[in-house]
Amino acid sequence: MKLLLEVLLVISLFGYCHVAPAFGDAFQVGTEQTYNYLNEVRTGSASNASHTVGYNVRAQIHVATVWGDDEHKLLRLKINNPVLVTTPGDVSQRTTLSSVDSIPFYVYWNLGQVKKFYTSKNEDVTLNNFKKGVASLFQYQLLDGQYTEVDPSGTCDVQYTSHSSTRYHKSKRNCQFTGDRFERTEYPLRSLVKSSRSVDFTVSTEGSLEKVVAQDYLKYLVNAYDRFGAFVESITRLEIDSSSNKVDTVKGETVDDALKSFGVSEHTLQSEKYVPKCDTSNCETFVKLVKNFKTSLTNDRIGKQDSSSALLKLVQLGRATSTEEFLRVLKAKTMQDQKAQLLDLLGAVQTTASHEAAKNLLVYESDEDMFLAERYLQALAVGSRPNKAVIEDVLAMAENKPTDPRYYDTLVQTVASMGHRYAKLPGNSYDTDVVDKVQNYLIRQLNSCSKDKCKQRFIRGLHNLKSPKTLDALVKLALEGSSKVSVSAMKALRSFSVFLWNDDFRATFEDIFFQVSKKFDSSARALALDILLDIKPDFEELTHLVQLLKSNDKAYEVKQYLLQKLRMQADRCPDFAEMLQRIIQNDPKLNNYHVIGAKGLSTALTRTYSTVPSFNASLESLQEMSGGVLKRGVVDLALEVGEEKFSMFTLGLFAGGLSSFVSSGDSEDNEDDSESIAGMELSVQGSVLRPLIFFDGKGELMGHVWSGTASEPTPAYQATTLLQDNEEIFPLQNGGIVKLSTLGSISIDLNGQVTMSLWGRNAHSKVEQNTAIAVAGRLSLDTAFVSLAVDFDVRQEPQLHLTSDLDFSSDPVLCMQLMQPSSILNKKVVKAVSVPGTKYRKVQTTKVTHKVPGCTHALNQKNNDMCNLTAKS
Ligand SMILES: *[C@@H]1O[C@H](CO)[C@@H](O)[C@H](O)[C@H]1NC(C)=O
Ligand SMILES: *[C@@H]1O[C@H](CO)[C@@H](O)[C@H](O)[C@H]1NC(C)=O
Ligand SMILES: *[C@@H]1O[C@H](CO)[C@@H](O)[C@H](O)[C@H]1NC(C)=O
Repeated sequence: MKLLLEVLLVISLFGYCHVAPAFGDAFQVGTEQTYNYLNEVRTGSASNASHTVGYNVRAQIHVATVWGDDEHKLLRLKINNPVLVTTPGDVSQRTTLSSVDSIPFYVYWNLGQVKKFYTSKNEDVTLNNFKKGVASLFQYQLLDGQYTEVDPSGTCDVQYTSHSSTRYHKSKRNCQFTGDRFERTEYPLRSLVKSSRSVDFTVSTEGSLEKVVAQDYLKYLVNAYDRFGAFVESITRLEIDSSSNKVDTVKGETVDDALKSFGVSEHTLQSEKYVPKCDTSNCETFVKLVKNFKTSLTNDRIGKQDSSSALLKLVQLGRATSTEEFLRVLKAKTMQDQKAQLLDLLGAVQTTASHEAAKNLLVYESDEDMFLAERYLQALAVGSRPNKAVIEDVLAMAENKPTDPRYYDTLVQTVASMGHRYAKLPGNSYDTDVVDKVQNYLIRQLNSCSKDKCKQRFIRGLHNLKSPKTLDALVKLALEGSSKVSVSAMKALRSFSVFLWNDDFRATFEDIFFQVSKKFDSSARALALDILLDIKPDFEELTHLVQLLKSNDKAYEVKQYLLQKLRMQADRCPDFAEMLQRIIQNDPKLNNYHVIGAKGLSTALTRTYSTVPSFNASLESLQEMSGGVLKRGVVDLALEVGEEKFSMFTLGLFAGGLSSFVSSGDSEDNEDDSESIAGMELSVQGSVLRPLIFFDGKGELMGHVWSGTASEPTPAYQATTLLQDNEEIFPLQNGGIVKLSTLGSISIDLNGQVTMSLWGRNAHSKVEQNTAIAVAGRLSLDTAFVSLAVDFDVRQEPQLHLTSDLDFSSDPVLCMQLMQPSSILNKKVVKAVSVPGTKYRKVQTTKVTHKVPGCTHALNQKNNDMCNLTAKS
């Protein structure tokens, strides 16, 4: 036992001796050393690092050890003659940095750690941060291993690696820094921060610190575009200048005693946040800014660049604007034409203040007022920062059951979408109180519905909420509801993540697709098939699905839809194509499947909508026909980044009971019910809006067709909404705090025109989507002595035209054309360096313009043939 104790004592002494003497000669009490300090900061575009703006700070640092022993030391630091040089310009500026000249600050140093930092009170935050950057250079360890260190970057995991007895490397990771950070959950809309933080240092053989090189590198990229963003690099070099001098020491039992006479106070070594003072250039008021954008905010600018850009500019300031200011703008006589876009803005801002202001407009008397109220609610539904108080308020409004069914429906869809987005925020889930309330509300209302229309409204609500807890209820509706209810429930189910589908769900969808237990509506079957293919069937499952082609099922449009979906999937995925090929070759009856497939007009296809140098996006078109006319059509525009997809906009069309107008004595097992209905169902960023009904009931169809009201293009959807929304900070070793932000928006004007002649037995439709996309990102570093910023933005106005001609004078012939006119892609990077309080400001602007050529998408051979037919007639 005694021996063991002695051994332990020796070991611990050894350990002690090993650590302490290593620092032995560093900062000996009563001596002062001088170092040369140089910090170089440069920033530029992520795609071209050769042109940058930046600055250097040079200074001499005097480090005197005025108190302490081998382990505990009080260091007095002085920054002498700091000089700021900006690039470009190489102008040396006399700046507020001079105020730190020769003013001492103090560091309590303990075995390589900077335990405490002391400076005089009332010092400017950024100058203090600069000193913290200097102080943290004296923080180092000489034993390899993992440590936790606090420095201006926050609390970091630090790894030390020695290259020799005098050369060391330290890398810093996972720096925790308290600060606001916001990002969207959808990966394609996010931005990526790539960073590295490291320090190399050299000590003399006696153990004193000779040289330090600290490097911080940060690249900030917008996911949706290739190499689009900015970078910043900060390199700090500290090098010993002269041999040490003697200095006077102070007395004291403890560090605090020793410090008493210096009139300094303790601060954390972590940088503090800084809000730059307003000068006229960067401090606009909301009211003034709205006036600047007055023309961009009129409704005829929707779908144009200036409208999407205006939202980006206004939303940031809007988040800090009061209800009163909003109301001043909304109630201004001169702003009446801007009301609709201002409501888009209020929905995007999504604060309690903006909601209170918008509510002033939600009292309505006319249809026009109702559309404005809906416009606000639809903007709220897709907003990126759902707010609990606002959700509760919208829920209360829905619970009040407004009399206008359209407005009521929109309230339900808004509260459901907001519930979905709120559940996805960090720290929240579908168990979060307010989300649970929304879900209970929807289920309660659904259960009390007696009519299909009422049920459909709340099923759509569940579609928007997407709570996995409602899956069983939706499956039950899909299996047991009327055909309308069943189709709505299947639409909702299709919107859930494929990862939820276990074997039980798969069996249910197969039941619906193959009509095992009973007959199902053809749309419900098509949707069940969509899900079964989304799950990525294996060889056996696919073999099973393909059997439908051989069956004597009379619904040839369902077969055609299956065939089309198989082709579409095979085009997209070579593995799937190979598997399908094997299945077909193995089965002689299937081998001539194209014979079976010849009948039917349903189509399914995907096409590239946009690609580099712009964002990657695809168009998916699913058109399910019945008796020669469209029954369910979907055109989805999805942003694609890596494996991830984000639906930006979906145009859905539905119709029923129309085939009697077209019928050419076709023998399809027609489950169309007699009531004719047609309409449009849009979803914006995954949120389904209430349907827009073109007509409902035969009488109306007649009236509509004969009155010619549909002969002018009518807007079906107009709004500007946010896409990207990211804000974060990155504190540098040198004490500067880099701010990063990205905002993106999409402005959409969708208008359509349908003409139908029962006399000529033909119908024409034209749908035009005018879109403007703007993304603006910023990387900035603001201090009291210098400001750097890189602003990068991209703008484009892509358009999409879909026309269809249906001729039903004999066998129905449908010709569809999907056209994208050419567009211009503008990218701009603006780099600026300025010195606050002086006139110095240098700006470099790089603009790149790409012509994106237009195209007419080849749809499929059958369509081409039919277009040839209609062109001839
Ligand atoms: C970077 O930008 C400069 C000027 O802005 C240009 O001369 C140079 O070719 C660019 N380099 C690359 C790789 O694009
Ligand atoms: C877009 O697609 C191209 C080709 O597949 C790819 O090289 C590029 O990295 C993609 N861009 C983005 C931003 O995903
Ligand atoms: C349309 O018909 C013309 C001649 O009748 C033919 O040359 C052309 O290739 C056809 N186009 C398509 C897309 O089938």
